[in-house]
Amino acid sequence: MLSSNIFPQLQSLETPFYLYDIPLLRRTVEAAKAAADRRGYHIHYALKANPDRRLLEVIAAAGLGADCVSGGEVRRAVECGFAPEKIVFEGVAKRDEDILFAIERGIYAINCESLEEVVVINSLAEQAGRVAEIGLRLNPNIDSHTNEHLTTGRSDCKFGISRREMKELLRLLPDLKNIHVRGVHFHIGSQILDMSVFEAQCHKAQEIVDDLRDNKGLHLEFVNMGGGLGIDYHNPEQNPIPDFEGYFATFEREFRLPEGMSMRFELGRSVVAQCGELVTRVMFTKTNESGRRFLIVDSGMSQLIRPALYGAHHEVRRLGEGEGREVYAVVGDVCESSDTFAYQTELPITHRGDMLSLLSAGAYGASMASCYNLHPLPEAHYWDRE
Ligand code: LLP
Repeated sequence: MLSSNIFPQLQSLETPFYLYDIPLLRRTVEAAKAAADRRGYHIHYALKANPDRRLLEVIAAAGLGADCVSGGEVRRAVECGFAPEKIVFEGVAKRDEDILFAIERGIYAINCESLEEVVVINSLAEQAGRVAEIGLRLNPNIDSHTNEHLTTGRSDCKFGISRREMKELLRLLPDLKNIHVRGVHFHIGSQILDMSVFEAQCHKAQEIVDDLRDNKGLHLEFVNMGGGLGIDYHNPEQNPIPDFEGYFATFEREFRLPEGMSMRFELGRSVVAQCGELVTRVMFTKTNESGRRFLIVDSGMSQLIRPALYGAHHEVRRLGEGEGREVYAVVGDVCESSDTFAYQTELPITHRGDMLSLLSAGAYGASMASCYNLHPLPEAHYWDRE
């Protein structure tokens, strides 16, 4: 773990901050890219996991594309070196100005989430005198069996075009002269470790893709399988790099990619989660009536909301040498009881001023930070030595 290895250099820094291990990021991106390249697959890194410029530059330099869900992310991707033809743009509520920006930049595809959106993009493209390249995000009605808040492919979710809307869309398509349907897109959830979920996604996607090509006459160029590969939050030191090989092998085995089509993925978490830690300092310690020992730290849910929002687990480490051990609740600086990083974690005996690190915080940590309670947004430090 980086923070333990370089603890002396961190001690004098003002806390809290995110600490990024750039060599680990490089190794992770290379592993993902190599496993994808072996099969001719393309990866669009999902900026929502972490849009930090320094990380994006590393990811862009390795040759990955970008997956963006807002105009802000599309602009950030372009600024950080992603070629427009490697950028995809999705999200259920794209603003007109962002759609126009994406069309004008000539990005690879705008993945549409409703019939109405397709019609609006057609008319915006018409006004701009362009033909917009689009993809259709279809709702495959699959449960990803992950955290309830992280499942996106069931028919009761807000994402994707339903079968009924798709029928209507196919009927309207010949009249929509300013769009070109380049491919189809699926994304069923996040933090998925059970490969049988991706197998089910492949089988559903196969049915849909084959039907659209063979029976509905669509000349599809790509199928985008979204993101979702999970990481090991419980043993990050043992498993710093996710099993990209096993992940892509599942798709290779379970999905017959028709001749002339490309397969695309939008990985976020698996690329950046393990290279980031949140380093914080103990402000106060106390024991309440129930006997619970608290470590109250100078960070909280405004900087890492995952434990409060999803009950997510992040390993906690105390930096530096320590004697004896004790079980603590590690809580943050926000005025809510849900602002708890860990309810029960055993650490070396800890005092005011000691530093703690929350591991596996590179994805959906800094990107979901807010100024709740008017705490400042977190700082970032980068380590770029092997
Ligand atoms: N593509 C689309 C359309 C998505 O909605 C997402 C994530 C991804 C790709 C990237 O998925 P990943 O490879 O990172 O699983 N805040 C939550 C995760 C929300 C994921 C939202 N969509 C968390 O902290 O766990």
